[in-house]
Amino acid sequence: MNQALGDWKRTHYCGQVTALDVDNEVCLMGWVQRRRDHGGLIFIDLRDREGIVQLALDPERDPEAHKVAELVRGEFVLAIRGVVSPRPAGTVNPKMKTGEVEVEVRELRILNAAKTPPFMLDEYSDINENLRLKHRYLDLRRAQMQSNMILRHRVTRAVRNYTDAHGFLEIETPVLTKSTPEGARDYLVPSRVNPGSFYALPQSPQLFKQLLMVAGFDRYCQIVKCFRDEDLRADRQPEFTQIDCEMSFVNRDDVMTLMEGMIAAVFKDAIDMTLSSPVPRMTYAEAIDRFGVDNPDLRFGMELKELTELVAGCGFKVFADAAKKGIVKGFNAKGCAKFSRKDMDDLTEFVKIYGAKGLAYVKITEDGWQSPIGKFFTDEEKIALNEALGAEVGDLLMFGADASGIVNESLGRLRGHLGAKLGLARKDDYRFVWITDFPLLEWDADAGRHVAVHHPFTAPLEEDVALLETDPGKARAQAYDLVLNGSEIGGGSIRIHDQALQQKMFSLLGIQEEEAREKFGFLLEALEYGAPPHGGLAFGLDRLVMLLTGSDSIRDVIAFPKTQKATCMMSEAPGAVDSLQLRDLGIRLAKSSS
Ligand code: AMO
Ligand code: AMP
Repeated sequence: MNQALGDWKRTHYCGQVTALDVDNEVCLMGWVQRRRDHGGLIFIDLRDREGIVQLALDPERDPEAHKVAELVRGEFVLAIRGVVSPRPAGTVNPKMKTGEVEVEVRELRILNAAKTPPFMLDEYSDINENLRLKHRYLDLRRAQMQSNMILRHRVTRAVRNYTDAHGFLEIETPVLTKSTPEGARDYLVPSRVNPGSFYALPQSPQLFKQLLMVAGFDRYCQIVKCFRDEDLRADRQPEFTQIDCEMSFVNRDDVMTLMEGMIAAVFKDAIDMTLSSPVPRMTYAEAIDRFGVDNPDLRFGMELKELTELVAGCGFKVFADAAKKGIVKGFNAKGCAKFSRKDMDDLTEFVKIYGAKGLAYVKITEDGWQSPIGKFFTDEEKIALNEALGAEVGDLLMFGADASGIVNESLGRLRGHLGAKLGLARKDDYRFVWITDFPLLEWDADAGRHVAVHHPFTAPLEEDVALLETDPGKARAQAYDLVLNGSEIGGGSIRIHDQALQQKMFSLLGIQEEEAREKFGFLLEALEYGAPPHGGLAFGLDRLVMLLTGSDSIRDVIAFPKTQKATCMMSEAPGAVDSLQLRDLGIRLAKSSS
């Protein structure tokens, strides 16, 4: 039944045929979305990446084409020649771009028949994601996926236009390389010609982009794959794409201003939205204080309030004890006094994920406090807490009492969770914030040493350099994250360009001189040959496109993503390899994997 394309040349995309084309001859090619047989007249919805157009086949007018049309089924690939005509009155479809017209088909060729797809390709069916991923080439035909990928293209185009206009050079960096310290596990690749040796896939091009600055390229930007073997979530993939930038002779403000401009250009180009500038800035300390997390969602209020002093002498032992050893914080979920017992149990389970031991709460009713902990508080204390949290009838007050890390994280996440649950966070309301002045180091209790909060090449604030000798845990970093609607879409820093300071940093991190030489020797050496002051940032392209398209999963904006278990349903990677391949690599498996 299949016919050759022959010398037919397409004149239009299906989705681009409009009333302006009426009476013109067109040649279209695409896939059959739907075929309707009206006992005589046959209508076919023909689809390509730009949209759908209705074809009409009249047995009287074009008996040959009509005969072929009877054979046509869903997802067949067709080519047609015909004439555009206005739809008869009453059949215009205002929801479709091409809804005013149809194409009267004169000639029809079936270019390729198709099996019945394992799922419907319309937008409304709720398809199991694994099935979608197994037949990704079919899933990608869906209008939503096509528009996601087209928008992704527009984002990278806007990035390239912007960076080119601002003097950035795109330079590729190696994929087979050495471990880079971004904090996740490495993906390793065995070397056949050097048995027992392994490359690591880059977690980011961090070291190479710094070397490009030492090499004098001044401004670099690469759209680049990064690989991290870490626990996957809705916004994380084992291989993902960064918009990776680095600049010489700049300070923090320079980088933030230029990168903000890039994001503004992306929003304008991709979704025609003008962002207000400048993007507000907030220190890490303020973000933790007000929101409990370093990626605050600014689309709604419900800010956390510190109550430690206020409850220090109260009769509720949990609060009074925490006030001595840790902190007590609370927030007001406006209008949520109506939450049921079950709701409160669910929220208590939620905070336990983050290490909280419980979730004390108060419902504000006409008769005052309704709460499991009400009996422990005097009327004066109740009034003081009400005032601190701006409580009104109908509100729900929630409290955390523990070490500061646990209180901030559990209440901060709870705030985010409630914002989504209550519908306070609209997807098309884009709120950006720069988070600055991160701590340089954090204490890793398990390892018994400091680790870098960002990475070991991040410079301390100039005024905090002296703290590296006296109280390194207090030193702040010249680092910045760009947060959009509660999601970290990018992060970077001004780097250390001084060899002695870099050595000092390694020693604070417990990386011995020999280990530093072995792991980052090439960088340390390069710093001795005239490294310019430099800094940069990397955006997570997938996360950015996810937010721009309003997708719930990062997988919906990646053509061929991995599952939560880091597998590809379609190609079935990762898979077993030949024993000969293993022998060539000098590798023997500890346990045969069946
Ligand atoms: P960082 O580790 O913060 O910085 O990464 C930069 C951005 O990449 C995105 N991202 C991810 N996206 C999807 N899946 C993942 N597994 C994943 N991990 C990170 C985030 C993040 O903000 N070299 C430094 C940048 C620099 O200092 O210039 C770096 O990689 O959106
Ligand atoms: P209890 O005295 O253990 O019955 O707890 C009384 C209320 O305080 C319950 O609602 C608990 O969920 C809550 N609660 C217990 N420990 C904490 C804590 N560390 N922080 C916040 N609330 C807590």
